[in-house]
Amino acid sequence: MDNFNKELGLNIPQHVAIILDGNGRWAKKKHMPRTYGHVQGSKVVEDMLTVVDDIGVKYLTIYAFSTENWKRSPDEVSTLMKILRTYLKDCIKKCMKNNVKCRVIGESTGLSDDIVERIFNLEESTKNNTGLNFTIAINYGGRDEIVRAVKKIAADLQCNKILPDNINEQLIHSYLDTNELPDPDLLIRTSGEERLSNFMPWQLAYTEFYFTPVLWPDFNTEELIKAFEKYNKRERRFGGVKGD
Ligand code: IPE
Ligand code: IPE
Ligand code: MG
Repeated sequence: MDNFNKELGLNIPQHVAIILDGNGRWAKKKHMPRTYGHVQGSKVVEDMLTVVDDIGVKYLTIYAFSTENWKRSPDEVSTLMKILRTYLKDCIKKCMKNNVKCRVIGESTGLSDDIVERIFNLEESTKNNTGLNFTIAINYGGRDEIVRAVKKIAADLQCNKILPDNINEQLIHSYLDTNELPDPDLLIRTSGEERLSNFMPWQLAYTEFYFTPVLWPDFNTEELIKAFEKYNKRERRFGGVKGD
């Protein structure tokens, strides 16, 4: 579902999902450690939050750390966790100022206790905000999310809370981490990679994809508008026929 922005003359996707990629390569180009790229990348996330809100996006979901990112060096993982810690804390102030409701999706097991506590505080403090819905995927993997959902469904079947006949797409949706979110309308991935890397495979079934070679720390309002312009040229058919 879109929302028309008169100033830009563009339909704005209701839900934008972003795979922010290329932090490491951006830093390497500058002969800096990869972690410098992550610091810059987190600043861009902060900037984009208000930019998308001002343009009229209702839901923004970003992929911050995947279930596969633990494969990186202990040094890089610990810097990413440090950045997340700071981000989760600072985000409360920014969300309260901008009426943003923040959620975190992904598996909390495996994250350190203080990060889990910060996630709880951020979600609790912002839960009554009525503006932009901002979702951060941390220790998130689409397949892991489906496995967790299937386990919950199996447990509910076992205690007769649901019956096999009740299983349909809506029910599965209700067991996913994203149960409060509509499916994304537009997925943006930076850095030139054209793959999902385990990001929301269920939810992205009919989403429009936009890939750009721009590295995430260089992403800005102009690049976002380019993505929206491209999105406006797409014809979403959902399996139907043109003009229906
Ligand atoms: C994205 O940038 C941030 C995370 C995955 C946490 P990368 O760290 O993947 O940067 P590249 O892809 O190696 O350049
Ligand atoms: C995807 O990026 C994960 C996040 C953006 C958090 P990666 O850089 O980890 O993905 P691959 O390894 O290139 O597929
Ligand atoms: Mg990458």
